[in-house]
Amino acid sequence: MSSTIAFRRAALRLEGRPLPLWTCKAKRFISTSGSILHENPLGIPRKPPTPAPGRGSGPAPSIPRMQRGLPQKMPIKGVKHIIAVASGKGGVGKSTTSVNLALAIAGMNKRVGLLDADIFGPSIPRLMNLSGEPELTGTEDRLVPLTNFGVKCMSMGFLVGEEAPVVWRGLMVMKALQQLLHQVEWGDLDLLVIDMPPGTGDTQLTISQQIPLSGVVIVSTPQDIALIDARKGVNMFKKVNVPILGVVQNMSLHVCPNCNHESHIFGDGGAERTAKEMELDFLGDVALHSEICQLSDKGQPVVVSRPDSKHTQYYKAIASKVVAKLWPETKLASA
Ligand SMILES: Nc1ncnc2c1ncn2[C@@H]1O[C@H](COP(=O)(O)OP(=O)(O)O)[C@@H](O)[C@H]1O
Ligand SMILES: [Mg+2]
Ligand SMILES: [Zn+2]
Repeated sequence: MSSTIAFRRAALRLEGRPLPLWTCKAKRFISTSGSILHENPLGIPRKPPTPAPGRGSGPAPSIPRMQRGLPQKMPIKGVKHIIAVASGKGGVGKSTTSVNLALAIAGMNKRVGLLDADIFGPSIPRLMNLSGEPELTGTEDRLVPLTNFGVKCMSMGFLVGEEAPVVWRGLMVMKALQQLLHQVEWGDLDLLVIDMPPGTGDTQLTISQQIPLSGVVIVSTPQDIALIDARKGVNMFKKVNVPILGVVQNMSLHVCPNCNHESHIFGDGGAERTAKEMELDFLGDVALHSEICQLSDKGQPVVVSRPDSKHTQYYKAIASKVVAKLWPETKLASA
């Protein structure tokens, strides 16, 4: 495909520098060498600079004086709502929730996209059963998302191999994130779901300060060790004035696949209690079930591969609450 070739050629244009190594199929590995890479880590070709207007011509900068120097929020073209799925901890089910939530909302007649903001540990390619390099738009300055199950996806994992580590310092990561935020051709979307990395660091700050988030879904398991970090996540988003849509409790209830015996291996209702204490809405539970894990690993998210299962009901219930919050008017219309 010509645009993919153009994409590679663009990378080759970084003359005299070590090539961005994702052009090398044999040993995909990204390093921080080469200062140009700092400016354009994803190797998206640049447009020729537009000639500067003459002195005094052109409109005055639109940023009010008071706000200069502060990060400006820039909407993502064509996207109505953006939500982030976050938590303090890793391994609590953010990616699994993002994917199944996105699919459940897509099943409600919404155009949905999924952005993997986990640069170091991208999960979306595997979970959505997608691979391959994204093509470039005709204008060659934007990446075209890959689509599966009707959801458009973008991930750092499309640009590097599954086992290749991204060995980047913070600056490169932030620049790559900016490119993933603003140089992807999503087309018209009702909702973009962002699957966040764990923590309350650079990525979380960049995303909450650079794009207008309609809200955040906090995922936590019921153990104290996860809840402590979930609280930190909540407090961070509160500090930067991003609304919290609510809390999802993952893996509280375990249903034995053999005898259907129910137990609370990680404790009972901790995330629900925390939501109450922090005056947040509780969006629902997702039980711990080996089927969710196995199907996720195979790239067959439960919402599409087991549409009639109990698991899908959990995700659909959460999706309905999120949709009611983002589009309160539809709730009124259907009431
Ligand atoms: N409700 C669940 N039942 C069973 N396994 C789950 C459930 N939620 C997540 N998992 C599994 O737990 C692991 C971590 O989930 P993941 O979504 O990658 O977490 P995170 O994105 O927060 O790091 C994955 O193997 C996933 O399949
Ligand atoms: Mg994840
Ligand atoms: Zn059993």
